[in-house]
Amino acid sequence: MKSFYNALPVRNGLLSIIPDCETTFMASHLECILCHQQYSLDLLFHECQDCGGLLDVNYSFSTIDPKALKIDFMNRRLSPAIQDQSGVWRFRELLPFITDVGSVISLREGNTPLYDLPRLAQKSALGRFSAKHQGMNPTGSFKDNGMTTAITQAKRLRVGAVICASTGNTAASMAAYAARAHIRAIVLIPEGQIASGKLAQAIDYGARVVQIQGDFDRAMTMVQELSREGRAYLLNSVNPFRLEGQKTILIELMEQRGWIPPDRIVLPAGNLGNCSAFGKALKELYDLKLINRLPRLTMVQAAGANPFVELVRSGSGQLKPMHADTLATAIKIGNPVSWKKALRAIEWAGGNAVEVSEEEIADARALLALEGIGCEPASAATLAGTMKLSRERALGSAEDVVAILTGHQLKDPEYILQYHQGTLAYAGQSIAGQYQNKMTRIPAELNALRNLLSEHD
Ligand code: F0G
Repeated sequence: MKSFYNALPVRNGLLSIIPDCETTFMASHLECILCHQQYSLDLLFHECQDCGGLLDVNYSFSTIDPKALKIDFMNRRLSPAIQDQSGVWRFRELLPFITDVGSVISLREGNTPLYDLPRLAQKSALGRFSAKHQGMNPTGSFKDNGMTTAITQAKRLRVGAVICASTGNTAASMAAYAARAHIRAIVLIPEGQIASGKLAQAIDYGARVVQIQGDFDRAMTMVQELSREGRAYLLNSVNPFRLEGQKTILIELMEQRGWIPPDRIVLPAGNLGNCSAFGKALKELYDLKLINRLPRLTMVQAAGANPFVELVRSGSGQLKPMHADTLATAIKIGNPVSWKKALRAIEWAGGNAVEVSEEEIADARALLALEGIGCEPASAATLAGTMKLSRERALGSAEDVVAILTGHQLKDPEYILQYHQGTLAYAGQSIAGQYQNKMTRIPAELNALRNLLSEHD
């Protein structure tokens, strides 16, 4: 069997501490979240070799001076070096598994805007509502925050090929970063279930794009199996190095807010990698005294793809996989791989999981657009979830809430056009959007235009 890995011995099992880290004041290792078995950072697999549990990248941070570190983070913005310009590597003391920061593979990711939305705050009776727009990343989604760290690790391990299953954004991001690192990329996608913007990106960046006649969950099982065989290095969010990069979404958010945490952070939940990364980020920021209290996490799923909501609701401690169905294709996932870490995030920070309908997602997306903030459907689940909790009076009085918008508006133009043309439909039912903006057709004559415009005077 041909292996895509370059010759590299897998130092399986034993913890090895990497000495002489340039950035560091600690040792790093991989650790199973269930049995706490420790591994060297060079492990090519993402599951505990003893019990199959997910792994964390853990550090023994020695004492740091939070004030001095915050100033270092800020000062790096003035430097032209890519590792300082990157909104991920700028925070490298909090992801110190890389010994040589000059070797990072970066597209200057992160550095995403935080938009204040006072009208929507008022509508939902919130003290403050803002949106951190991760769609403003180089490939248009939050995946870039984690892909820079995971591809840098892949490069460090000298792997010959990387692989992922994807609902689209991971594929686009991995393809771009693999191209940048000159590593072969293979993506598995569910046929006909990927938004066109994402598919175009993955193809354009030169990845080998393989469509399967099955759903995302099947694709995920297939790539996990293939990577266990050593055929390629897996870059889905089971890869703990992805989550290290995604932590910086919250680190940057805290910095933008003068290190004052909001009351609540709301994010869309699919494969649950981002929820897991946010839990770890909050725990580390709090333990290192970079923030002095923990915001709650609210994870939002579409009602037709809600296995995590069901898990939290049932309190059973065991996720029941389901057949997923939602027009928000990014989060059309019925068997999320990182559910144990996401549950842990709620235990650490407090929070909840909420489901929203297709109509709620569609209208929330259009409502955000009317504030000048475009995003893809899955991202708008955050506003839909916030508005639902507000209607149900499940939020504290005048809460300060931050929504994480995960993907760019132009990822899924078909959805937007269908919404505004009134042809968007789910389960055979058409969605009558509250904020439809229908196009008008007139003959190419000035008088026709004058007449039309005078109707609005
Ligand atoms: N929002 C967007 C735009 C996404 O693309 C995804 C996941 C999520 C939210 C959910 O994040 O999986 O960490 O819970 N997209 C993956 C992909 C699955 O393949 O692009 P999660």
